[in-house]
Amino acid sequence: MQPFTFTTTRSLVSRPGALKELPDYCRQLGMERPLIVTDRGIVSAGLLDQLEDVLGQLPSDSYCDVVADPPESVVLEALAKAQSMQADGIIGFGGGSSMDTAKLIALLACSGESLDQVYGVEQAKGPRLPLVLIPTTAGTGSEVTAVAIVTTGETTKTGVVSPILLPDLAILDAELTVGLPGHITAATGIDAMVHAIEAYTSAHKKNPYSDMLAREALKLMAGSLLTAVENGEDLEARQQMLLGACLAGQAFANAPVAAVHALAYPLGGHYHIPHGLSNSLVLPEVLRFNASAAADLYAELYDVLVPSNDYATADQKTQAMIQWLKQLIDSVGLPTRLRDAGVKEKSLEILAADAMLQQRLLVNNPREVSEADALAIYRAVF
Ligand SMILES: NC(=O)c1ccc[n+]([C@@H]2O[C@H](COP(=O)([O-])OP(=O)(O)OC[C@H]3O[C@@H](n4cnc5c(N)ncnc54)[C@H](O)[C@@H]3O)[C@@H](O)[C@H]2O)c1
Ligand SMILES: [Fe+2]
Repeated sequence: MQPFTFTTTRSLVSRPGALKELPDYCRQLGMERPLIVTDRGIVSAGLLDQLEDVLGQLPSDSYCDVVADPPESVVLEALAKAQSMQADGIIGFGGGSSMDTAKLIALLACSGESLDQVYGVEQAKGPRLPLVLIPTTAGTGSEVTAVAIVTTGETTKTGVVSPILLPDLAILDAELTVGLPGHITAATGIDAMVHAIEAYTSAHKKNPYSDMLAREALKLMAGSLLTAVENGEDLEARQQMLLGACLAGQAFANAPVAAVHALAYPLGGHYHIPHGLSNSLVLPEVLRFNASAAADLYAELYDVLVPSNDYATADQKTQAMIQWLKQLIDSVGLPTRLRDAGVKEKSLEILAADAMLQQRLLVNNPREVSEADALAIYRAVF
């Protein structure tokens, strides 16, 4: 059996209403003056008020100016806030953008390291402040990944990758996601499903744990994404999505994602297309491209998605899985063509060249992707 290592968040709580226990958890972690890191959408949705009510007597402050795909300036501003209030703990509250920012603040406010010092793999030394992450989207799985992503240029993102970024605790409370708009539920949910699919076919680090998590994640999300989009108040579907996204996060944190993400990133960089939608746009065509190398694994996943199907061969199941996903993407109302997401045809070559810069991800793909292949995929979905 192939040797492997598996790392994840130490404690998870998965229950609607679990937020109410946050003061107890803060106490256990020695937080007496936490900083909440979040964004304006969470404030407008009334969720920050809810969190502050729960914290009650515990003195806290908040940084609410995280933006999607946070740039360095946001991280530095939030850091200054943590330092000026002498925060002794950080609560990341929101989607991947808020949680990633919170992870970095917990590290930088305590270790004294600079952003430049911690970029890259295992560069951060720590220590960090106590950290609780509370996702309000069922998507990135950032609450269980050792990664924080910062936008560092016009179109580029840089990652900080270190197990120090894993929080002390993640709270999965579906009550916080009932107000998530349908289009964000859809895009973030497809992102999470891609995490499971790509972890399951990851070329080097796929292992029995990540496989188990990816399969369970897909099962949960296949049964609940459409319901969560169509009836946002269905708590059961919302909790299944949160848990599914979390399990998928645990899977891809240990068996990394590949070409779907590599081709999605340039779409985010050049056109600010949200991360989940970028993934959704290229997903079916990348799976079609990978089919010759990964059909056996895709067939196993199709049996998870549609347990009692009549297809006999791996190729048939792979084609059926691609169709199933296309149908889901259509049903949840996401655009399926790059042109409908604002992409210009003349930029396809630049996008393909940029995708080649994502070698960190492309090495995990079951089939080698050349620049010409990437261009052909973008053209096919244009
Ligand atoms: N750390 C990781 O492992 C990892 C993995 C993938 C992506 N990312 C990063 O995560 C970010 C994307 O995260 P995301 O897709 O969760 O989106 P996001 O955090 O950018 O949030 C999307 C929008 O949803 C709103 N929102 C969130 N929850 C809400 C709720 N319950 N009710 C109403 N509105 C709500 C927010 O206000 C925001 O406007 C990117 O920066 C990406 O690079 C990180
Ligand atoms: Fe993703």
